[in-house]
Amino acid sequence: MKNKIFTGLLITCGVVLGGAAAAATPSATMLSNTCVGCHGPNGNSMGPASPTIAGISTEYFMEAMEEYKSGVRPSTIMGRIAKGYSEEEFQLMASYFSKQQFNRDKDQNINAKMAKKGAKLHKKYCEKCHEDGGRSSEDDAGILAGQWMPYLQFTMTDYLSGNREMTKKMKKKVNTLKDEQGDKGFEELWHYYGSLK
Ligand code: HEC
Ligand code: HEC
Repeated sequence: MKNKIFTGLLITCGVVLGGAAAAATPSATMLSNTCVGCHGPNGNSMGPASPTIAGISTEYFMEAMEEYKSGVRPSTIMGRIAKGYSEEEFQLMASYFSKQQFNRDKDQNINAKMAKKGAKLHKKYCEKCHEDGGRSSEDDAGILAGQWMPYLQFTMTDYLSGNREMTKKMKKKVNTLKDEQGDKGFEELWHYYGSLK
């Protein structure tokens, strides 16, 4: 009886130690492979509900993951996923995804007329922070150009309901856009971002 417990303990310890040793050195590619199912190869998402995360800045990536983990940023799935990683692992993945190319070759149903109006609205209300048509990853604002339109729409719904917090200045612009252009203004913006290659 005693012997059996002892052997059991040894086996358990072996498994725990082995597991810890293996978990201490995952490569950035290994970690990032678990994201591919939803975010696509190299972070280029194939489906409209998951955003493309290729090419986003390490700064924006870190903030997003930390806010998912703490629950500050609302999510359907990312809150649960982010809880499984350490800050060090976030950093490895941030570095990996920031080096990937954001692929804008998505098959989205673009209305050219709406996209044209959206371009004007973007210049007036959004370009100041989302530079180069929302292509820039130099700022801490994420990438809008070539993103999935349904994702942009879901995200704006979260912002407008107050579930996801906007920066004060963005909130001001978004509210002005809403007052002056209505819901149609947002739709036109999504067609513009979706049309950018
Ligand atoms: C089961 C599908 C799924 C998996 C697996 C997944 N994600 Fe996500 N991810 C989503 C969805 C959906 C969103 C939009 C937020 C939400 O509803 O959870 C998102 C949003 C994000 C965002 C925010 C992007 C932005 O533009 O603000 C980041 C960053 C992200 N995920 C990183 C990761 C990383 C890193 C992994 C792997 C460790 C991962 N995701 C695994 C589905 C997934
Ligand atoms: C004063 C600067 C500023 C202005 C103006 C601004 N934004 Fe933002 N935007 C940000 C920042 C910073 C973030 C990222 C921080 C966050 O998570 O809210 C962001 C994030 C976003 C996101 C989420 C991106 C993602 O991947 O989840 C969307 C969508 C967005 N902005 C749309 C707009 C639109 C549309 C306008 C114009 C009506 C606009 N923004 C104007 C600063 C700005």
